[in-house]
Parts: sequence; C-alpha cells; structure tokens
Amino acid sequence: MWWCNLSKVTLSVIKADVGSVVGHYKPHTAMIEYAKRKLLNAEEEGLINSGYAIHCGDDIILIMTHNRGPNNPKIHGLAWDTFREITEKVSKPMKLYAAGQDLLSDAFSGNIKGLGPGVAEIEFEERKSEPVIVFAADKTEPGAWNIPLYRIFASPDNTAGLVIDPTMHEGFIFEVLDLIESKSVELKTPEDLYDLVGLIGTTNHYVIARVLRAKDREPAAVTSTTKLSLIAGRYVGKDDPVMMVRCQAGLPAVGEVLSAFAVPTLVSGWMRGSHIGPLMPVSFKKGQNVVSYFDGPPRVIAMGWQISNGKLVGVDGKEPADLFEDPFFDYSRRFASEIAIYLRTMGEFQPSRLQESEMEYTTLPSILERLKSRFRPVE
Ligand code: F6R
Ligand code: MG
Ligand code: MG
Repeated sequence: MWWCNLSKVTLSVIKADVGSVVGHYKPHTAMIEYAKRKLLNAEEEGLINSGYAIHCGDDIILIMTHNRGPNNPKIHGLAWDTFREITEKVSKPMKLYAAGQDLLSDAFSGNIKGLGPGVAEIEFEERKSEPVIVFAADKTEPGAWNIPLYRIFASPDNTAGLVIDPTMHEGFIFEVLDLIESKSVELKTPEDLYDLVGLIGTTNHYVIARVLRAKDREPAAVTSTTKLSLIAGRYVGKDDPVMMVRCQAGLPAVGEVLSAFAVPTLVSGWMRGSHIGPLMPVSFKKGQNVVSYFDGPPRVIAMGWQISNGKLVGVDGKEPADLFEDPFFDYSRRFASEIAIYLRTMGEFQPSRLQESEMEYTTLPSILERLKSRFRPVE
C-alpha cells in the first residue's frame, strides 16, 4: 500500500450531529450501534487498525487509528458513508429530530472538511508507550478549547511539568487560526505568551488548531476548527468541537491535562447556540453525556487510551478510560450547575445572551422592520 506510512500512526476523530431523540437530547442507540458495526467492518477489511464510536450530547464521534495519514480519502469516505447511512437508514425512518443536520452537502469528493462534520487528525511516531486523551464537547464551538489548551501548554500554574520537566521547559508552539481571514500564525511560549493570549482571548475569532513541543516540533495536541457558520454562509449551529492531546514522558501528564477542566470556563453555545454557559466535565459511563437543562449546559467528555502498535487500547478492550468519572469532578459539575443557574437569572440580556452577530437565531431584523415607523430622530 504505497499511501501508507507504516512507521507513523494517525488518530482521526470525525464527528457529526445526524439527528437525535427527544429534540437534541441524545442519538438513538441504534445509531451508535450502526457506527460501531461500520467501524468493525472497516477493521476487518484492513481499512483502519481500530475504531470506536460514542456520543457526546446529540453528536456521534468516530475515533479511528490507521497508517494512512491525515486527510486520507478512504478514512474521510468511511466517516462520510457512516454518517450518511445512519441518516438514511436510522434517523430519517425513525423521524428523529434534525436528522442529517450536519451533512450540509452531497458533494463528497475525498475530503469531509467543509461539508459539515468536524475533523481533528494527528499523525505521530508511536512512542515506547503512548497515552492519548480524546475530548468531545457538545453545545459549544472550537474556541472552547482556547483556555484549556492555554492552561495545559502555557500556564505553569496548571502544568507543573513546564517548570520541572527539562523536555517541556523550552515551551510549546501554538498554531493559531484566524477563523475569519482563514490564515494562521505560529506563536511560541513562553516568549510569545502575551501575544498568544492577546489573540486567543477572542475565542470566536482566533482558535488554537495545533500545539507542538518547541524542542523538536513533536505534535502534542490537535483540535477540530471548522466553523459551521462560515461554511454554510449563515449560522447553522455551533460546531461541538473535538480535541486530542498526547500525554506523559515529556508532554503534560494526564492529570495536568485534566486539571485544566476542574474550574469550568464560560463558552459560547448552549440554548439555540446563542448564549454563554459553563463547560461541564462529565462521565460518559454514568450517562452524563446528554444535554437537558436549557439544552445544556455545554459539556465535555474525556476518553483515555493507550495507542499500542497502531491500535486503541482502553481499560477493557477498546473501552476508553472515562477520565471525568472521578468523584473529584462532582465538584466541577456542581460548580458548573451553580454558574448555569446564575447565568439564567439574566435571561436574554448580554453577556448571558451572545452579541447579535454570534447568535444562531435572531428576530432583531423583523422587530426593527415592524418598529421602523415608530422610530423618531433624536435631536
Ligand atoms: C443548539 C441546539 C438547540 C436548538 C434548540 C431549538 O445548538 O441545537 O439548543 O437550537 O433546541 O431548536 P429548534 O429551532 O430546532 O426547535
Ligand atoms: Mg442536534
Ligand atoms: Mg451537538
């Protein structure tokens, strides 16, 4: 297979919302089962090394390892066919809510980017031992990763290894994407720290696409950066992003990575993609990966694996470690609930509600149209 680079492994995470039960609550079990079967077939055919399917809120997440590199048409095709078939064979016949929502175009020609689903891919030389964490969030957008990634890779207050581990002491390189202008810039911490924060503080404009270790440009983290609103030319939903982080032995420890989620951050999304809400870290084993209160609040799951000989190894076969299951994170969930309740006391007033240009829905033009004749010039 000439296109394969067998010395390197690729972790591809591709996700889409193709419908859910009782509004945007969660996908039907038959949808996840379909995805699992499809990935198992792909394993048996040798298309991928291993695959796993799960949901976060109303999104289905496909996690695949292979040796075909990022942007491979066969891998993207597998994800596209899976989402399309689930839509046609499961969600549409059952009349599930928003069936096929994220499949914005029928024009698949080898790359799924730009067609609706979110994509994050990372290729690396497998180390002696390779722990990775895959995060998936619902009811928010890619800018939600800005603070956690800043904490993990740039803040010595979060990551002790930045100070203590000589391999990390040189810092990290952040590839920052300008979502509006479609261009990117590399910034190196600690030297460019203030410039980095200057940009990524504007979470709806600048997002971190990739993080590399400065010493040797070893890939450390990758996010999905598609903005559905820009793809569709109008707002069609928050992106519900994914992210993966490699850990340990010269990269942040698993515990340092998870620390970044202990105190919930405020993110854009939530009800009607038009509010700010706290990002709540939840357990998928306990079934907390659903959205309810005011269609939220926004939430994040963390799946831990070892990548061994190109395959996913979890705590039980391929079953990933459920990293927010720890009772410690009950504190974060409680804290997030209190923030959520507090924010809702503000109703439809900014900043609880997003600014006009960031809202998924707006009635303002029609309100203005109706009130046109009642406006009077101010002297
Ligand atoms: C946000 C989201 C939901 C819906 C809301 C209204 O991304 O998916 O909060 O916006 O449930 O949905 P419709 O307009 O379909 O009734
Ligand atoms: Mg939905
Ligand atoms: Mg969603």
